[in-house]
Amino acid sequence: MSRNVEELHAIPAAEEVLRDMPTEQQHGGVGQQQQHNGSMDLTGAPSVELLRSLYLGTTNPSISGRIGERRGSTSITFTTVPIEFPPVTRLDPFNKKRILVTGGAGFVGSHLVDRLMLMGHDVICVDNYFTGSKTNIAHWIGHPNFELIRHDVVDPIMLEVDQVYHLACPASPVHYQSNPVKTLKTGFFGTYNMLGLSKRVKARFLLASTSEVYGSPEEHPQREGYWGHVNCIGPRACYDEGKRVAEALAYSYARQDGVDIRVARIFNTFGPRMNWNDGRVVSNFILQALRGEDLTIYGDGAATRSFQYVHDLVDGLIKLMASDCTEPVNLGTPQEYTIEEFARLSIDLVSEVRAGKETTKSKIIHLPPVTDDPPKRRPDITRAKERLGWEPKWKVREGMLETIVYFLQTLQP
Ligand SMILES: NC(=O)c1ccc[n+]([C@@H]2O[C@H](COP(=O)([O-])OP(=O)(O)OC[C@H]3O[C@@H](n4cnc5c(N)ncnc54)[C@H](O)[C@@H]3O)[C@@H](O)[C@H]2O)c1
Repeated sequence: MSRNVEELHAIPAAEEVLRDMPTEQQHGGVGQQQQHNGSMDLTGAPSVELLRSLYLGTTNPSISGRIGERRGSTSITFTTVPIEFPPVTRLDPFNKKRILVTGGAGFVGSHLVDRLMLMGHDVICVDNYFTGSKTNIAHWIGHPNFELIRHDVVDPIMLEVDQVYHLACPASPVHYQSNPVKTLKTGFFGTYNMLGLSKRVKARFLLASTSEVYGSPEEHPQREGYWGHVNCIGPRACYDEGKRVAEALAYSYARQDGVDIRVARIFNTFGPRMNWNDGRVVSNFILQALRGEDLTIYGDGAATRSFQYVHDLVDGLIKLMASDCTEPVNLGTPQEYTIEEFARLSIDLVSEVRAGKETTKSKIIHLPPVTDDPPKRRPDITRAKERLGWEPKWKVREGMLETIVYFLQTLQP
């Protein structure tokens, strides 16, 4: 996939689009009313505008200078020491935690790092940059509460921390299938090393597991009690079985050594900072529609997926870490789309963002189905509602608009 930035020139600047997008008042802020380990009120939770300024760098002039002037030039300017960091909460030493985020330079990890930093914690990000990027967390580099370590979790590391969010693992089929043995090593050794670390320093450990542990489900929607239906020899097995063994390791460490574990089974998530070339359905559709290319659907388009916006997922992860729930918890949006419906929605929303300047010429075309692609996926989130008081707040439409603006900005010169 090559960047075709000329085609994007006619598109309104991100700022123009943002003027009409949801504000803090409309959303009631992100993560409001959360309690952290029951001891900290997070109503100082970030506004949508503040979070947006971290990935768009447009809405807050004091922040935009830090990640560089992206548009109107063929170069990006970075400064190693920002003029001013985003404001973080001042926490007293009893509430300030040292938190390790593995995979913190990736899509979900970087949003989690943003939130934990804004909450006022000390955050260590460990990443080997396989699918992540330093630019995702560049706005924190140099902050006294933040540390960035290039490290592969397949190798052990010793760190003194209170909590571990273990996200390190490629999540898109294109990437995890490019080196399936490494994906399995990351699933097993990566999780084993992070559990060993958590055991030694008595840290609470949260595993970013996945709905893929349900495989091609025979139960619909999927409850956490469902054991799954996974092809252990197919091309997706490296990821699916890697996550299943990661869960098995977590529960074994909990039973045998008393490690304090949390397991999030994450369903399809999208948002700004998704890798534009990782072949996931949301990024594919948005990019194809922005370029006026046809949208490619693998199979007949009748397969269903549910899509959750990344801010909701981060809310859920933080609430799960703070809860006493040691059973696996589904985090996802129960609203289901067929892939065909979602493709049409993507075309409509890209047209909307283009503000009628140009109607997209994109059509939908069908390609042969992908091996072992599950026909249905929808979470039952009863447990998350009851145990965490969590449910998604963002509508798919709002999240998609936000994501389209991000891709526009990323691809503009
Ligand atoms: N995004 C989703 O829809 C989704 C759905 C289910 C589960 N998850 C899980 O959430 C986590 C984050 O997913 P994401 O979408 O942000 O993916 P991502 O690929 O954007 O992020 C993964 C990060 O982990 C890093 N990484 C990979 N292997 C590593 C290794 N061996 N050592 C150190 N770092 C390594 C990558 O460089 C990247 O920064 C993953 O564990 C994924 O399985 C995501």
